[in-house]
Amino acid sequence: MKQNVHSIAIDGPAGAGKSTMARRVAKALGYQYVDTGAIYRTVGYHMWLMGIGPKDADGIRRLIDDVNLRIEYAPDGAQHMILNGADVTDEIRTAQMAVYASGVSARPVVREFLLDMQRDLARRHNVVMDGRDIGTVVLPDADVKFFLTASDTVRAQRRFLELQAKGEKISYEQVLRELRQRDEQDTNRAIAPLRCAPDAIRLDTSALTVDESVAAMLSIVREKLG
Ligand code: DC
Repeated sequence: MKQNVHSIAIDGPAGAGKSTMARRVAKALGYQYVDTGAIYRTVGYHMWLMGIGPKDADGIRRLIDDVNLRIEYAPDGAQHMILNGADVTDEIRTAQMAVYASGVSARPVVREFLLDMQRDLARRHNVVMDGRDIGTVVLPDADVKFFLTASDTVRAQRRFLELQAKGEKISYEQVLRELRQRDEQDTNRAIAPLRCAPDAIRLDTSALTVDESVAAMLSIVREKLG
């Protein structure tokens, strides 16, 4: 096993820019980028395939052991989600799977199921890991923790443009409504809710460009890690 690995935790609500920043920071540092939202989306996708609703606690508990999840990394560093042998990386990026992911992620059985997998990745690699509970629960000893925020209208606009670029037919109003519901659900669930860790650095990206946010994060990381 590799010794002296470093980890950077990036948490925050949907659309705050976590994955864009995390990918860029990971590339600049030569670290592995781990998108934990994609893992929850994959579990949600399995439940959807099996006809289980996102809030069906009994159904989710019954089927969770059938989920065989694997993460593979392409040569360019892109994360691929493999569900029971099939690559579902593209299928999980819809607005519907965001709703499913948020629903299943509130179930303790799902969070327990995924905790070791996430910690194991951080034990074996230098990682930049993004999610909702990375700095608080998954990697409480991360070397650097960020909590990214932005206003909900800015976040919804970003998500809307992303979904539109993928050809999904959804209005800005629906994206904003679903994002607010997801914020509410992710923040108020009983287990591992979305929270800023006390030792996390808060960064509001509403008025910052991607380049400005990444530069700010990299300078903090370099100062901390030397
Ligand atoms: O980051 P995302 O939009 O792909 O995440 C989808 C959902 O997964 C999000 O609404 C809540 C859940 N999630 C979580 O509970 N914990 C994480 N570490 C990452 C995501």
